[in-house]
Amino acid sequence: MVHLGPKPPQHRKGTFTDVSPELLKKLAVLEKEFTVDGATLRKIVDHFITELDKGLSKTGGNIPMIPGWVMEYPTGEETGDYLAIDLGGTNLRVVLVKLLGGRKFDTTQSKFALPEHMRLAKSEELWAFIAECLKKFVEEVFPEGCKEVLPLGFTFSYPASQDRINEGVLQRWTKGWAIEGVEGKDVVPMLQEAIKKVDVPIEVVALINDTTGTLVASRYTDPEAKLGLIFGTGVNGAYYDIVKDIPKLEGKLEDDIPIESPMTINCEYGAFDNELVVLPRTKYDIQIDEESPRPGQQSFEKMNSGYYLGEILRIVLLDLAENEKIIFKDQDLSKLKKPYILDTSFPARIEEDPFENLSDVAELFQDVLGIQTTIPERKVIRRIAELIGERSARLSVCGIAAICKKRGYKTAHCAADGSVYEKYPDFKIRAAKSLRDIFEWPDDLKEDPIVIVPAEDGSGVGAAVIAALTEKRLKEGKSVGLKA
Ligand code: BGC
Repeated sequence: MVHLGPKPPQHRKGTFTDVSPELLKKLAVLEKEFTVDGATLRKIVDHFITELDKGLSKTGGNIPMIPGWVMEYPTGEETGDYLAIDLGGTNLRVVLVKLLGGRKFDTTQSKFALPEHMRLAKSEELWAFIAECLKKFVEEVFPEGCKEVLPLGFTFSYPASQDRINEGVLQRWTKGWAIEGVEGKDVVPMLQEAIKKVDVPIEVVALINDTTGTLVASRYTDPEAKLGLIFGTGVNGAYYDIVKDIPKLEGKLEDDIPIESPMTINCEYGAFDNELVVLPRTKYDIQIDEESPRPGQQSFEKMNSGYYLGEILRIVLLDLAENEKIIFKDQDLSKLKKPYILDTSFPARIEEDPFENLSDVAELFQDVLGIQTTIPERKVIRRIAELIGERSARLSVCGIAAICKKRGYKTAHCAADGSVYEKYPDFKIRAAKSLRDIFEWPDDLKEDPIVIVPAEDGSGVGAAVIAALTEKRLKEGKSVGLKA
């Protein structure tokens, strides 16, 4: 079969002849535990479809399946100036988007690093920080002041229930955030209030999940874009469903929303299989979950998103060093014992080391953890990083396959963004291979029918297009949420 998609990864296992028998034995166990074969992937996808359906049902399920109130496909002809902000895992991004029509746009943006303590700060502190950043940005891009109220699309990458487009009741924090006083509340008035205090003419017109933004931005430039995906600090996907296929909306919509209307769905499938029916969890996954601020939640995300990959590696290594005593003999393990000391760039850099003796890995362990490694240890470490990276990519595509099967998509562009998709070595190749393992496409196909493609800027352009579509609906007197 000739594939025009990414090629399978190079075999990088190397030789393990100098590795001690006890360490080899342990590696074989890890190989088994972390490998997710095609049959398991297909089983996960089947269960995933059931859970997507449950999430849309009146009784609900693990996966929230939140209607996003974007009820049009963008035409690419939307125009106007919009502000967009994106409260992501590590940065706050502020963007001025000029939609030019003809599937074109211009953007001006600033990034503000979120201070580390913000993840656990007080609610008022967070909103005040965002409002200050917005003020700075607006003063910079409109030095003479702006004459009209600027419509703002707020990309909020956490599970938020929406009864209408300019609302988002935070269900629960994810990705290690735990700011008090926000869960269970609508974040839009909190932000709007803080903006009022700094006295800038901005109105929050739409609250948008990053996946929905990614979907709509990509659809603005590519009519084949059917899914919006994030493989980053967290994982999630969005797609367009049809109102009549969303039982939980039955009887709750105004008459001006026809049952044939499209409706974006923010799946929030990081919560897939919280009941633990099919996920092949290792003891390390169980430990990550138990030690997280929200045990029992985001079970799927905890096995494959960027927030956890370095941490998984850390606890595997600590197990081998401290419990099994088969690596890092006589080394100071104090840094390795620090939770979350290794971010995702750590396993990524291990996998990227081009040298035969893995000298980059040696340097990394010395610099970050103060640990001196032997060559056999480094070979084993590299293999473990590969196992974790490969498992992440294979699990990641289960959501794509499930949505495509559910909606009956035989072909699709699945628009993806996020640090793991962008930067983790071989992620794209491994993900494409995993889709082939799931779909078992016939050998005579020239191209993979369902492909993951790089997304357009969801939280900038996507948020702006959604704000534009919302303004248009409001001007036409159409509803943008549930029946009052
Ligand atoms: C959040 C989602 C978000 C995803 C990717 C998850 O932790 O719950 O809302 O889309 O991360 O950023």
